[in-house]
This record gives sequence, C-alpha cells and structure tokens, in this order.
Amino acid sequence: MKRTLLVVGSVNVDAVSGVERFPAPGETVLASSYRQGLGGKGANQAVAAALDGARVELVARTGDDAGGAAVRAELAGWGVDVTDVAAVRGVPTGIAQILVDARGENMIAVSSGANDALDAAAVDALADRLGPGTTVLSQGEVPVEVLDRLAEVCRDRGARFVLNLAPPRDVAPRTLRTADPLVVNEHEARTLGLDGADPEDWRLACAAAAGRLAEAVVVTLGARGAVAATCTSSAYVAAPVVDAVDATGAGDAFVGVLASRLAVGVDLGGAVQSAVAAASQAVTRHGTVESYPRR
Ligand code: RIB
Ligand code: NA
Repeated sequence: MKRTLLVVGSVNVDAVSGVERFPAPGETVLASSYRQGLGGKGANQAVAAALDGARVELVARTGDDAGGAAVRAELAGWGVDVTDVAAVRGVPTGIAQILVDARGENMIAVSSGANDALDAAAVDALADRLGPGTTVLSQGEVPVEVLDRLAEVCRDRGARFVLNLAPPRDVAPRTLRTADPLVVNEHEARTLGLDGADPEDWRLACAAAAGRLAEAVVVTLGARGAVAATCTSSAYVAAPVVDAVDATGAGDAFVGVLASRLAVGVDLGGAVQSAVAAASQAVTRHGTVESYPRR
C-alpha cells in the first residue's frame, strides 16, 4: 500500500563548516572542511520518507535565486514531488549556518528567508487534498500561522497531523493537542514542561502527556533512542551503539521515517523502531540527506 505523505515545511541551503571545536563567543576558529547543499527540516524529512519508500509531496517556499533552483533540483533527485515548492520573487532562499565539531555535534542558526512566505492561504489551498488516510507532517521552521491552520484543516478533514516542533514555537494549545504524534527532542520537550533524567522517566512523562498535551507524544533521546506514548500504551526503544561522526539531520531521518511508516498504517511503536534505526545509521556517516538509509 502506498499512501501519500504531505510535508509542509522548510527548505534551506545548508552552509556546513567542519571545526575541531566550537568557537567561544568572540573567538574565530579556522574550519577544516566546507560543504553546501540541501537542508531544512522539511526538506530533510521529506527525503528521509522518500528513501524509506513513501510517496512524498513537499509544500514549501524558496527564493527565486540560484540556491532555490539548486535545492529544488536536489529534492527532485531524491524522489520528492516538488510541484508545490514555489519560488517567491525578491526574497532569498532560507540559509542554515552549521558548525560540526570533531565529535559530530552541531550548532545551527537558520535565516528563514522565503520559508516565512508560507502562509495560512497556502494551507487552505491544500485542504481538498486531505482526508482520512492522509498523513501530514510539519516542523517549527515555518510560520506559526501555518502550523495552527494546518492542525485545524487536518482536524476538519480527518487527516493525521504529525508535528515535529523543532525549533520550539508558540503554537496554539489546540495545535499541540491535534498532533498525532508530537515529536520533540529533550531540549524541546523541556520547553513544553516535560522532563526526565533517564529513559524510564521520559517514558512516564510521555505517557502522562499523551491525550492531554498532544494526541500522542514521542521524545527522541539522542544516542539513547526514543520514547513514545499514546493514551493506551508507551514504550522505550533503545538505539544501537554506533560511532557518531555527524549528527546533523539525524533527527530529521528519525521524523521522516516515522511519518513514512505511520502513513502506511504501521503502529506508533513499530514506526519508532524503524525511526531509531534510520537515525542511528545517519549519525555514522558524514552529511545530512546523503547519510540517510535507503529501504
Ligand atoms: O535538522 C537539521 C536542519 O536544521 C539543517 O538541514 C538546517 O537546514 C536546519 O533546518
Ligand atoms: Na550524518
């Protein structure tokens, strides 16, 4: 069964410098490597889902510049339907400035550019494509009005709304409650009032939040794996021990594969297992989408 996954999200040009260690405030360090290419949580997650076998349509905005044309072509090359990736005149394509250190950790600052041109009207234009059996995925790199409207339209049409609230945004409480699941990492979870020290704590925090904060909740725990909960069940999925070289976009591999599995009817626990496996593989290779597994 191949059902469509609709991703409404960000597209960036990633400018990635490899450094031995991160500079302190006011300090300059020399980078040992540089690469530029496709990024943005929406784009990365769309690619991860496509590589996992899903039919993926991406709704996004780029600038009418060379970066926009390049990332659009890259997305199409990875098998993502880019019919609704539109170029906006006179604004730059989103840019993410990324530092990756010798331990594979990263620091990221995003200049949203054209991603901010996505609006509620663009969401309304999609409404007729949504219904029971459609899965919609979005992230915190698009305007809050887009997330709030998307949740509303999914509720009206009976579509499943998967929300990766990265970075954290001030969405309406109802938007969170519609999320099935809400997916966050530990830092993002803390901004929502969830907390834990070990995986067991996090599993209990998720179980308490499911059905209240959001319809279902998933918290990713980095090298430790992830926890997930619905109203009726919860689970901890441990990650295999791997040699991490670059964690950039590993969270997006997780979310993209999670949504791709949910879209074909896999249950949350099973989808989280596949997602943990995909993210664990992604951290062992350099690059972002280049490091994602193909099913
Ligand atoms: O999650 C990684 C992504 O975050 C990067 O590709 C960058 O563009 C930022 O959106
Ligand atoms: Na990687």
